[in-house]
Amino acid sequence: MNKRLTVAMDGPAGSGKSTIARHIAGKLDYFYLNSGSMYRAMTLLSIRKGVPPTDAPALIELAKHCRIDFADNGQITLLNNEDVSDALRTPEIERAIPDVAKVPEVRREMVKQQRRIGKKGGIIVEGRDVTTVVFPEADLKFYINASVEERARRRFIEFKENGIETTVEQVEADLRLRDETDGSREHSPLRAAEDAIVVDTTHMTIDEAVDFVVRQIRES
Ligand code: DC
Repeated sequence: MNKRLTVAMDGPAGSGKSTIARHIAGKLDYFYLNSGSMYRAMTLLSIRKGVPPTDAPALIELAKHCRIDFADNGQITLLNNEDVSDALRTPEIERAIPDVAKVPEVRREMVKQQRRIGKKGGIIVEGRDVTTVVFPEADLKFYINASVEERARRRFIEFKENGIETTVEQVEADLRLRDETDGSREHSPLRAAEDAIVVDTTHMTIDEAVDFVVRQIRES
């Protein structure tokens, strides 16, 4: 297997898709594109500019004139050339992002940038609509899932490790809400593409999930 494929992966928050995608990019020497980081960077820009997440026309203007790039094989997010990687996972961004990500023209601009980055292949891209909207012609598509209880357990451990005080119940309630907003929005809702390989990671370790996906890529 020496073709430089486009591999797309969607799934809900906490399914393990970011970790899996990052590991696979490392193993295959592919570029790693986290499309969620792009929506996060766009949301950060709107907060910095004082644009309320409900002001769609102003958001569209911002989206049209910003450039989001990735460096260090996708580990670093650049917003207009500034490294904003450490500023993307704040509660303020989490609160505003559903409103920003539901504006169709904002999505169109983000999709353009994702396609610009992905056009040469040799890429693993992950998000909510990358198998259905961004790269419907991807060589391989995966839908990564896990039970909401398991996803909440994983997120809770992550928060604890980062010193964030919360409870598993709270994390689970937030995840259910996010599933609902990501899955029911009018434009590009989260859903499994018809030709996606579904991977349920509820009872899998990261290594098992990574091995499974790598095998599919190598055999394709
Ligand atoms: O994957 P993440 O948690 O970093 O994504 C953050 C938010 O961005 C998520 O709640 C929905 C949105 N998103 C999106 O609308 N489309 C994508 N392709 C990726 C993320």
